[in-house]
Amino acid sequence: GAGQGVIVVSNRLPVSLECAGGTCHSSPVSGGLVTALTPVLTVNKGTWIGWSGAPDVEGVDAALRLFSQETGYTLQQVGLTHEQIANFYFGFTNQIIWPLFHDSQFECNFNPDYWQTYLDVNALFACKTVESGNADDYVWVHDYHLMHVAKYMREAGDNRRTGFFLHIPFPAVDSFRRLPWRSELLNALLEFDQIGFQTLHDRRNFIQAISILAPHVKVTGRGQVVTAKVGGRTIRIGAFPISIDYKKFYRTARSAVVRKQAQHVHSALPDRKIILGVDRLDYTKGIPHRLHAMQKLFTRYPELRGKLSLLQVVVPSRATIPLYAKLKKEIERLVGQINGEFSEPGYVAIHYQYKNLNFEELLAYYRASNIALVTPLRDGMNLVAKEYCAANVERNGVLVLSEFAGAAAQLRNGAILVNPFDVEGVAAAIHQAYMMDEGERRKRMDRMRESIRKNDIFKWVDSFFASAFAP
Ligand code: UDP
Ligand code: G6P
Repeated sequence: GAGQGVIVVSNRLPVSLECAGGTCHSSPVSGGLVTALTPVLTVNKGTWIGWSGAPDVEGVDAALRLFSQETGYTLQQVGLTHEQIANFYFGFTNQIIWPLFHDSQFECNFNPDYWQTYLDVNALFACKTVESGNADDYVWVHDYHLMHVAKYMREAGDNRRTGFFLHIPFPAVDSFRRLPWRSELLNALLEFDQIGFQTLHDRRNFIQAISILAPHVKVTGRGQVVTAKVGGRTIRIGAFPISIDYKKFYRTARSAVVRKQAQHVHSALPDRKIILGVDRLDYTKGIPHRLHAMQKLFTRYPELRGKLSLLQVVVPSRATIPLYAKLKKEIERLVGQINGEFSEPGYVAIHYQYKNLNFEELLAYYRASNIALVTPLRDGMNLVAKEYCAANVERNGVLVLSEFAGAAAQLRNGAILVNPFDVEGVAAAIHQAYMMDEGERRKRMDRMRESIRKNDIFKWVDSFFASAFAP
């Protein structure tokens, strides 16, 4: 609503702090949630409640106050202990919910100790929220870390309007049912006044979970937003595909700094087409499958050897979780193996980087690349796909996109859609992208850019609020 304040609550703050002896160092935060929410807070000037990324020590509050002065919106931290970080962040959220909701149920570690800490940490976030803002503020909670916040707010007597947005997929009911705490979680979600998902598919899964696990809840309506009745309350349930600040990506991509850096990337790899992959270190991103597809490409189309290189950036993430550490080793092994097979003096088949990029570097890579390979096995949305199009100011790049990314629903009008498990199909898609004539490339890229421009992050906020405040 106009003039109303907003409190955003998410596990991540847009800054990650490491403090010792009263001095703090900030390190970059990666991931789609922070990319998407930063412009929202910048425009709405509200409060952002979250975790600083490190154990709670002295200095964090002061550092956040300083950061708040720079950004123009308020940051408030929820401090977590070492044990809470282990059981909540590395445990319940990222070893149970993350794999389960991304269709990797066999990777779940259903350690019963994690559950109580999940509840405790959600209560902490709720407590911080109850103390924050004004009586008419809208409380907007984000992502799978915080599904119990509305429930605890109600228990503390805070009856402000609440919304929840899930940035990751919602699984099919047969997966969801495996969760030992499925009913508690479902009922806690139903304490929010509005629940948003990335796609209609996710919402359908959620409604199916309700009909099987909470049959007393009546869901009615159709279209983008439907309603559920629980007790005397009405809950809106909608699909709101998240997006990016299109203008910011487009403008920065055209800047002199980025143009120069992109030229530099080109001249470092002369006479060669560049395929780009940018992903957080995560097994949902399908990086090993993608590397196998590259191997298949060079085997099936030997004429492409020497003409095409993959530039694969992997952004460090959750690396102390065994499955992530194992994935990193697997990627390194495959890159070594493929380079051993196809590289030559003056030609490297796969350029691999394990690091954070700064914004200009990232945009230079987007601009310099002829093809983007975005092939997650499962992804709530995938903003990299949208960013690549927005930054492709030459309008001649090709996007190869997994049909299991939420973004496929918006970008199917221009991307080459692939099944990432089909290694031969992905190799064929890369070949198709390589051979595509300029007219076709431009036509497809223009269509995708237009739909992202029209449906940017500000439009997303508007549509979430329009439904939240609809009579
Ligand atoms: N990104 C980043 N640091 C990097 C490279 C990329 O923070 O070094 C950003 C990228 O711009 C994008 C986000 O990380 O906004 C990734 O979001 P996406 O939705 O693609 O996947 P997620 O990481 O959220 O699963
Ligand atoms: C995904 C999740 C976000 C998360 C991000 C980075 O985008 O939806 O909630 O912040 O990954 O992961 P991290 O564990 O570093 O917060």
